[in-house]
Amino acid sequence: MEIIRIPRIMQDTSRGHLLRSRTIGFVPTMGALHEGHLSLVRMAREENNVTAVSIYVNPTQFGPNEDLTKYPRQIDADIERLREEAVDILFLPDDSLMYPAGFATEIEVKGLSERMCGHFRPGHFRGVATVVAKLLNIVRPTRAYFGQKDFQQTVIVRRMAKDLNLDAEIVICPTIREEDGLALSSRNAYLQPHQRAAAAGLYKCLNNVSREIKAGLHSGARIRDRMENMLGGEPLISAIDYASVYDPETLDEVEDITGEVLLAIAARMGTTRLIDNMLVSV
Ligand code: PAF
Repeated sequence: MEIIRIPRIMQDTSRGHLLRSRTIGFVPTMGALHEGHLSLVRMAREENNVTAVSIYVNPTQFGPNEDLTKYPRQIDADIERLREEAVDILFLPDDSLMYPAGFATEIEVKGLSERMCGHFRPGHFRGVATVVAKLLNIVRPTRAYFGQKDFQQTVIVRRMAKDLNLDAEIVICPTIREEDGLALSSRNAYLQPHQRAAAAGLYKCLNNVSREIKAGLHSGARIRDRMENMLGGEPLISAIDYASVYDPETLDEVEDITGEVLLAIAARMGTTRLIDNMLVSV
């Protein structure tokens, strides 16, 4: 595996592959890799000639009171796992190369970025859109792979790629879960053992409500009540940021359910913020 730290070298390397008509599959990550990331890597490998992964903990997507400094970092273990997955290129830049002195450009996907998590994490999606645009420009992938677990992120990245006429095809892959349903996330490492067991409550709530929707519950207000009651019954959930039903394209809350909808939750267990979602068709 080639480890590249300099954006210009990464661009030249990608250009070389593209000139030889090789497709590049790219998985952007912030490291602390788990099976969820690896499922994206495997998909990228399956569908492309060259697989590239980036590891970069992007400071601009963390709020002032968020977990930037304590975000899990395990670069040696990550490199080992990527080697085992036969990844071709690891792009590993640092802050001085991604945001050099004088950096002044930001990308804002209006509307979509203010809903759901955006309401509780102001500026978060500006940071995500900006760094993903930079990474796509540097790595120049044919396809870029994102997990459905960060559903709002996928909608925003797709919108940005379309609006900015970016070349890369944005591919969304299914959420990978533990046996009890907890969605894999690097932040699960923060959970204490007793919180870990209760964290599967988010998935149970999504599953139960999905069944109720399929059985005929179609009122947005009643679905929100059901979700809040179920999550509220778990004493270890200290706050529910949101638990509702949304249009999967506009991310607007839905009142009368028809077609496909998104059930989504963001809840806190102590200082750990968990998110999960599920698409349901009626
Ligand atoms: O999903 C993530 O890990 C990050 O938001 C991403 C896409 C790598 C941008 O920093």
